[in-house]
Amino acid sequence: MTAMLEVKDLEVAYGKIVAVKKISFSVEQGQVVSLIGTNGAGKTTTLRTISGLLRPNSGQINFMGQPIHHVPAHDIVSMGLAHSPEGRRIFPRLSVEENLLLGAFARNDTAAIRTDLDAAYALFPILGERRKQPAGTFSGGEQQMLAMGRAMMSKPKLLMLDEPSMGLSPIMMKVIMTTVTALQQQGTTILLVEQNAQAALKRADYGYVLEVGKIVLHGSGRELLVNDEVRKAYLGED
Ligand SMILES: Nc1ncnc2c1ncn2[C@@H]1O[C@H](COP(=O)(O)OP(=O)(O)OP(=O)(O)O)[C@@H](O)[C@H]1O
Ligand SMILES: [Mg+2]
Repeated sequence: MTAMLEVKDLEVAYGKIVAVKKISFSVEQGQVVSLIGTNGAGKTTTLRTISGLLRPNSGQINFMGQPIHHVPAHDIVSMGLAHSPEGRRIFPRLSVEENLLLGAFARNDTAAIRTDLDAAYALFPILGERRKQPAGTFSGGEQQMLAMGRAMMSKPKLLMLDEPSMGLSPIMMKVIMTTVTALQQQGTTILLVEQNAQAALKRADYGYVLEVGKIVLHGSGRELLVNDEVRKAYLGED
């Protein structure tokens, strides 16, 4: 079986700066796959390229068996690939519900969209309780829930999360990470980008470590969690 997402020899540059250097990795259907790495490793660049927001210099990206590295970003969303971006990027003046509905922009099945709004409110009850509130008044953790809820509104087969735990309290981080597992159990495949290696690898079926644009290690989440290099570099252990 081919993987749901296959990235092969992907190279992405900003002018002369090569941020992603011929990386290859894959995400099997039903898995949570974590991509970890420190600041500037190329994690966001990788996700933005998969989403069609950046174009690679070379390499291939296949989603559900189809090449997508030349497909426009909005068509990639329609194919079932959603992206919850770094920094959340919610629209502060719009209400919670309006933000959620923006996630459904590529759909026209109005009745099903209502059902999925209710599913987002079931996933994160606070979104339902405050559906009319301007999203800019939300805390960081609440905005993260909204960003994930919005991404789920496109009914993705594969959800990509860029540093969902950034800036969150340990309790809020647990809420977000528990939701990752819940979404996986509901059938969503997840590519999770994190600097927080502990949180990300604990939940990952498989993981990749990115350093200055290259994948330097990969293995099951469990293998990477006990790996000496990972423990030194990411978990602060001597
Ligand atoms: N718009 C841009 N123009 C020029 N260089 C960029 C741009 N965006 C990112 N870079 C560079 O590309 C490299 C990878 O950046 P990227 O944002 O992908 O890293 P990251 O792993 O997501 O880091 P972080 O954990 O800090 O979010 C860095 O060296 C960064 O400075
Ligand atoms: Mg980033």
